[in-house]
Amino acid sequence: MRQLLWNLLATGHRDSIVRKLRQMEYLLPTAETRFAIPFTLKGRGHFRSIRPRQTPTEILRLYQAVCALNPQTVLEIGTAKGGTLYLWAQAATRDAVLVSVDLPGGQFGGGYLPCRIPYYQAFAREGQTLTLLREDSHAPQTLDKTRQALGDRRVDFLFIDGDHLYPGVKADFLQYGPLVRPGGLIGFHDIMPAPHDPDIQVSQLWQQLGAHFETQEFVDTDHTNRQIGIGLAKVPDTGFPTDLQLT
Ligand SMILES: C[S@@+](CC[C@H](N)C(=O)[O-])C[C@H]1O[C@@H](n2cnc3c(N)ncnc32)[C@H](O)[C@@H]1O
Repeated sequence: MRQLLWNLLATGHRDSIVRKLRQMEYLLPTAETRFAIPFTLKGRGHFRSIRPRQTPTEILRLYQAVCALNPQTVLEIGTAKGGTLYLWAQAATRDAVLVSVDLPGGQFGGGYLPCRIPYYQAFAREGQTLTLLREDSHAPQTLDKTRQALGDRRVDFLFIDGDHLYPGVKADFLQYGPLVRPGGLIGFHDIMPAPHDPDIQVSQLWQQLGAHFETQEFVDTDHTNRQIGIGLAKVPDTGFPTDLQLT
């Protein structure tokens, strides 16, 4: 009985937030204006927020770069409340294939509850296909499922924002980077050193990538706390390097 009531309540909250989302999209019809939506949309219960776990000025610059790329295929490692996934669906083509990988209860954000699955599915625009893999990105079967979801497509944009430990982010990069097409983009969250948070080790990988990739950094220098930073690496025209020497 309790479970039934809980389900009814969750369904009500979900229907209401999807209606709100559609109303906002009606009022904000372009990809540029829709950047505001995940920062402002407010729901109830388990659907309170999809606010990106990002510094707004940094994610804005990445969003602009992804809009300019207008990807047909997007892969996100680390989705949590769904804010960045929502943005990629807006930046992508009408017929895009999007894949999200997130580990339930995973470190650095905790994943999302199953009741949010239909909500995230509603982020996909008409004609887009969104696959949600609630799995450990490092598991070989997750790579298999990702490949299956992509079919014969190469990835245009890969966003790595899952495991922030050095071995974890490196594993994601080496496992999923080769799926990205020549000229495609790979984004990383949290590229700045984090001396006060020893579990954030993305900078160790990021600092090595400059030797192999054309890179760009989006860092909010006005940020009052620690600088966080987003890094963007372009896969060379010759393809993802097979001879990467990473320590
Ligand atoms: C920082 S959050 C993602 C934030 C999201 N990209 C945004 O900006 O709103 C990191 C997510 O990565 C997930 N994660 C951590 N380790 C993972 C792993 N090994 N495989 C898949 N997901 C993982 C966590 O569950 C968490 O939800």
